[in-house]
Amino acid sequence: MSGTPHRVPPLHTGSHDLPVSPELAAFMGADWAAGPLPGDVRVPACAVTPARRARLSARFPGERLLVPAGELRVRSNDCDHRFRPHSAYAWLTGLTGEDQPGHVLVMEPSGPGGGHEAVLYLRPRSVRGEGDDEFYRDRRYGEFWVGRRADLAEAERLTGIRCVHLDGLGLLPPGRDAATDPELATALAELRLVKDAWEIGQLQRAVDHTTAGFEDVVRALPRALAHPRGERWIEGVFGLRARLEGNGTGYETIAASGAHACVLHWIRNDGRLDPSELLLFDAGVETDTLYTADITRTLPLSGRFSPVQRQVYELVLAAQEAGMAALRPGARFRDFHRAGMRVIAEGLADWGVLKHAEGDFHRRYTLCSSGHMLGLDVHDCARARAEVYLDGVLEEGQVLTVEPGLYFQPDDETLPAELRGIGVRIEDDLVVTADGARLMSGALPRTPDAVEEWMGALLEG
Ligand code: GLY
Ligand code: MN
Ligand code: MN
Repeated sequence: MSGTPHRVPPLHTGSHDLPVSPELAAFMGADWAAGPLPGDVRVPACAVTPARRARLSARFPGERLLVPAGELRVRSNDCDHRFRPHSAYAWLTGLTGEDQPGHVLVMEPSGPGGGHEAVLYLRPRSVRGEGDDEFYRDRRYGEFWVGRRADLAEAERLTGIRCVHLDGLGLLPPGRDAATDPELATALAELRLVKDAWEIGQLQRAVDHTTAGFEDVVRALPRALAHPRGERWIEGVFGLRARLEGNGTGYETIAASGAHACVLHWIRNDGRLDPSELLLFDAGVETDTLYTADITRTLPLSGRFSPVQRQVYELVLAAQEAGMAALRPGARFRDFHRAGMRVIAEGLADWGVLKHAEGDFHRRYTLCSSGHMLGLDVHDCARARAEVYLDGVLEEGQVLTVEPGLYFQPDDETLPAELRGIGVRIEDDLVVTADGARLMSGALPRTPDAVEEWMGALLEG
């Protein structure tokens, strides 16, 4: 480019936030009642968070540790995405609300023994006064825009942790920050691998609400079948249950009818439901305490499996049974996957889809591994080192999914025509016990007969 730069006149976009006169500021700042939070309310996890912080402290003696809740993320212009605190922050503080952006838990080294004092750096409730207009003018943090936060004394009561103003954070000497320090992030993931009894109770609630959501979905099928975007209809039905009972869905709902089921994470959910096809529905309610279920059922939209649908379903079910039977303390994490895949490979060889069960050719039809840890995150503890998670052994108190599947792509020329376009996944949530595993999602039927009976009863009712 050369020549005289082209001059662009300054563009004036204006502001929705109109100027405030001194008289209005004075009027807004006065005559508000005190309105404290109830004095006896604690975060639900308050009895268990001290032990969690003590375990973290013991891993990093004498080091300053910062665990941020995370920041708001812009969706567009002055609209942000809904905020969910980072799971490690929620786990350590018990604070799980949308009022936490920018807050940071600091584990401050204290005393000669290498221990720590926990201190929460918070943005306290907006001050009401002539000199402070945040409460009615700040679209991100103002009480009249996004709701009330706790003041520092209230936050201390809620959490049992000493609370100070966020402004003090900049004065701290450096420390390890979980957002940037891989060792701290990994330690936090590993500390969360084994769930305490309170967490298992929360996960059971997530599973129970999810079960209710699956029942809602079956009841909604007649109307969903009549709508051109039936997948959306049932996504919405489940989402309503999730928002009513908890914080929302723990991940984007997969409502995959027909060949959409062969797309592992089909979340476009814009398809029609066809009564001759299967519906693969994978969804989980996240509780207000941020624990999520992760359950899949594959349902015949007519209410009855066709013979070929049943054949595929029964092989996946046998694989899941073999996988679940392999769960026990001391078993390798990968054992349940191997057990399930063995069943699938042999089944495919029996059908003549594979020449033999050896090798890993079955993976053309299974695509992914068949389970993961579950907790505050749907794919929980993903930052844990391989030697303690994927290549490690199971321990009592771990919660995980077992979710084998078969996905026969509609354009797969290795397959007989009747199998093409069928996708089946069966996914359940289990907790490892002293001598095996307990099925947490057993209230939802799994055998084909039980699925048909359950659908029939819900559709009649
Ligand atoms: N819903 C994601 C998964 O099953 O892992
Ligand atoms: Mn799932
Ligand atoms: Mn899963």
